[in-house]
Amino acid sequence: MDAPIILYGSPVLRKHSISIIEEDNILKITEMLFDTLKKAEGIGLSGPQINILKRAFVIDTSPLVEDDITIERFEGVFINPVIIDRSAEPEIYKEGCLSLPGIYEDVERPGKVLVRYQDISFNTIEEELDGIKARIFQHEFDHLEGILFIDKLGLLKRKLLTGNLNRIKKLSEKQKNIRN
Ligand code: CO
Repeated sequence: MDAPIILYGSPVLRKHSISIIEEDNILKITEMLFDTLKKAEGIGLSGPQINILKRAFVIDTSPLVEDDITIERFEGVFINPVIIDRSAEPEIYKEGCLSLPGIYEDVERPGKVLVRYQDISFNTIEEELDGIKARIFQHEFDHLEGILFIDKLGLLKRKLLTGNLNRIKKLSEKQKNIRN
């Protein structure tokens, strides 16, 4: 079952998500994340984006593979993720976000990250990520901390987005009225 995607402007996206425990219905959360992500044809989605303030996100690179065959097809669930180490060399990539429809901007992030997380069976996994996986992991991880990719932009760039951001805020207000 898919869920409505929380849009920029909602305070939910600015909250800190809490750890997932084994008593949580992780299968249900994962299913909702994947169903919503696939319906929106996105490449990553985190708990808070569907109003679940818990530390989990999903990644599915398949929409990118359609445009660029050099990209590895990858699908995964990341529970209680942590970034242990980041490479010094920053890389630039044009990011977007399902909570910020229509906005795409170059964002600088470390190209490689050493991460730890749990899989759906609560096995702890530690691995080094690079390329698109490292990029999406960092973007989704930020959501769990209440951080959005536009926070990483320079003041001027951010200012130029004001009109666009206000447009999304209005949509978010409408969404809230429908939910209530
Ligand atoms: Co996002």
